[in-house]
Amino acid sequence: MPAREPNQPTLFDLEGRRFVVTGAASGIGRAMAGALLGQGAQVLLVDRDAQALQAVLAGAHAGRVHIGVCDINHTAAFQQLVDGFGAVDGLFANAGISGGPGFGTEAGRELGTLSQQSMAQWHQIMEVNLCGTATCMQAVLPAMKRRRHGRIVVTASVAGVQAEPFVSYAYALAKAAVVRLVQQSALELGPHGITVNAIAPGFIKTGIANGRLHDTDVAGLLVPRIPVGRLGEADDLAGLAVLFASRASAYITGAVIPVDGGYLLNQKEPIAC
Ligand SMILES: NC(=O)c1ccc[n+]([C@@H]2O[C@H](COP(=O)([O-])OP(=O)(O)OC[C@H]3O[C@@H](n4cnc5c(N)ncnc54)[C@H](O)[C@@H]3O)[C@@H](O)[C@H]2O)c1
Repeated sequence: MPAREPNQPTLFDLEGRRFVVTGAASGIGRAMAGALLGQGAQVLLVDRDAQALQAVLAGAHAGRVHIGVCDINHTAAFQQLVDGFGAVDGLFANAGISGGPGFGTEAGRELGTLSQQSMAQWHQIMEVNLCGTATCMQAVLPAMKRRRHGRIVVTASVAGVQAEPFVSYAYALAKAAVVRLVQQSALELGPHGITVNAIAPGFIKTGIANGRLHDTDVAGLLVPRIPVGRLGEADDLAGLAVLFASRASAYITGAVIPVDGGYLLNQKEPIAC
């Protein structure tokens, strides 16, 4: 095998590459942004939580961290941020919200059944988790098409892959739609040199759902169903984020890759509700 020349980029090198990460002030988005920065990328961190965003990675990676305070559903404001950032190599469309507990949880027996899911909740979850993801993709596409190059990575969920009693109906359906959005757009955009892939996290201890995944009762319910025997940490998503951003994944598109400690493999017993 020929030795690598000095200064020759490695498979995972992101030096000089420019990425936009939404929902970057917390949890998975923050960890993915940190991982991209660690490989030398320029990263525009977008979040609607200005205070949390300012605190992220303060001082680290000087000159390569760009901050954009914006609600992803304000499409004109997001477009302006993206255009101001310059030629974008990749988008991590990650911002999302929880839709409340699923019918398989104690709290969800009251709130998470189909009968209880209000239209207001449907609209709110779809607006952020599905429409917000699609409009962020729309914002980066014209420039990516012109350059015939782009990486789009969407944060889906195991709840978008299989029926899932531990999340709300609206959340599960929004994530299932996001999975199809990734597959449909990968088909359209491949000929333009743009790949589209999804990361499907399992249960990751972040700020989502008011930090409920940090509660020991939730861990007690979920951990026995996870083959590796623990809930996920946001940093568990870092490796796949770098893979999808880098030239190592040039021939991967339309993929939906779980990062779930094996949760999707597990046999489920029926949930009483
Ligand atoms: N944590 C999990 O177990 C888990 C599992 C599967 C999928 N996900 C998905 O991962 C993504 C990140 O979630 P997380 O767990 O890191 O949660 P988190 O709450 O820690 O972080 C989400 C971030 O997104 C931001 N955000 C939310 N709505 C926004 C909007 N409209 N505009 C701009 N910013 C917005 C929030 O301010 C927050 O900083 C979400 O799409 C979520 O559905 C999380």
